[in-house]
Amino acid sequence: MAANVPTVKLNSGYDLPQIGYGTFGGADAPHLVHDAAKVALKEGYRHFDTAYLYKTERSLGDAIRGSGVPREEVFVTTKLWQTFKRPEHVRPACERSLQDLGFEYIDMYMFHWPMAWEFHGYDHEQIQVKDENNDIKCIDVPIIDTWREMEKLVKDGLVRSIGVSNFTIPMLEDLISKAEIPPAMNQIEIHPSLPQEEMVNWAKDHNIALTAYSPLGNPGFSWFASTGHSKTLEEPAVLKAAEKYGKTPVQVLINWGVARGYCVIPKSVTPERIKANIEYFKMDPEDVEEITKIGREHPVRTCDPVLMFGPSNDVFGEHKKKD
Ligand SMILES: NC(=O)c1ccc[n+]([C@@H]2O[C@H](COP(=O)([O-])OP(=O)(O)OC[C@H]3O[C@@H](n4cnc5c(N)ncnc54)[C@H](OP(=O)(O)O)[C@@H]3O)[C@@H](O)[C@H]2O)c1
Repeated sequence: MAANVPTVKLNSGYDLPQIGYGTFGGADAPHLVHDAAKVALKEGYRHFDTAYLYKTERSLGDAIRGSGVPREEVFVTTKLWQTFKRPEHVRPACERSLQDLGFEYIDMYMFHWPMAWEFHGYDHEQIQVKDENNDIKCIDVPIIDTWREMEKLVKDGLVRSIGVSNFTIPMLEDLISKAEIPPAMNQIEIHPSLPQEEMVNWAKDHNIALTAYSPLGNPGFSWFASTGHSKTLEEPAVLKAAEKYGKTPVQVLINWGVARGYCVIPKSVTPERIKANIEYFKMDPEDVEEITKIGREHPVRTCDPVLMFGPSNDVFGEHKKKD
C-alpha cells in the first residue's frame, strides 16, 4: 500500500509523493537497487529517481514490473546525460532508458546537468571521458535546442512530464521564456547546509516543483565526504528537533524538506533505513526555520560539478567567484 505521504501537483497535471527513493550510489548500486527497490515498494514508496548515468534503470524497472504494483501508481524520473544533448541524440537516449526500464512511458524525463558534452556513443564507459587536464569540455548546444526534442517526447507519448536538474534561476528564466512546455521540476541539491532559500521561493512563485537530491548530504559516500561533507546530521538544531519529535536526525532532515514544500529523495539500500526514511511527520514552522538557518550564511555543496567533471563545468559560477 502507498505510504501516507503528502503529494505535490506538477504544472503538467500529475501528482507525486513528496518522499521518494534515490538510486545513485557507486559500482554496487545496479545490483543492490533491485532488492532495495522491492523493499521500498513494499514499504509504500511510489516515487523513484534514476538516471542513465546511475546504471540502475534496469534493476529499478525490473523491481517495479515484478512488484504487482500497477505501473500507473508509480512515478519514475530518469535523466538525459550531457553527451546526449545534441537534438539527434535525445530521442535515442530516451528510448534506451525506456528499454532498460521496460516501460511504455517515463513519468519525468529531465536534463541531468545544464551543460552539453561531445557525443561518444551510448556505452556507459564513454559518457564521462576526461581529457589530459582532468576536464570534460563543454560544446555549444543551446539548451532550448535540446528542450524542443524533449517537448516532442511529451507530444509523442514517450514521456509525461519534462524537467531539469541543477539549473539556476537565470537558466530557468531563460528556458521558460523560450519553451512551449515549461519545466515541471528542477532537481537540485538541498539539505540544511545548502538550504537554497532563493530557489525554493522562486520555484513556488513560478509553479515549478523542486526535488531535493542528497537530502542527507550523502553521509555514506566517501567521495562526497572527501570533497566537503557538511556533517548536517550532527547539527544542534537537527538533534534538538529529533528529540522533540522522537525521530532520528535523518527523519528530521527528510521531513524538514517535506515541510518546505518540495520532494525529497533519500537513497538507501538498507531495509530498516528504507522503512524509516518514508515516515512522514509534520514539523512546526519554528523548527523548520531553525534548521534552515544552518547553511544560510555559509552554504556547503557536496555535489560540485567542477570537482566531478573539471574546470569547464563551473555552471554555478562558484569557482569563478572564489578565484
Ligand atoms: N540530479 C543530480 O545531479 C543528482 C545528484 C546526486 C543525487 N541525485 C539523486 O538523489 C538521490 C539521493 O542523494 P544521494 O544518494 O546523493 O544522498 P543521500 O540520499 O543524501 O544519502 C545517501 C546515503 O545516506 C545513507 N542513508 C540513507 N538513509 C539513512 C538512514 N536512515 N540512516 C543513516 N544513513 C542513511 C545511505 O546509506 P545506505 O544506502 O548504505 O543505507 C547512503 O550512504 C540519489 O540516489 C539520486 O537518485 C541526483
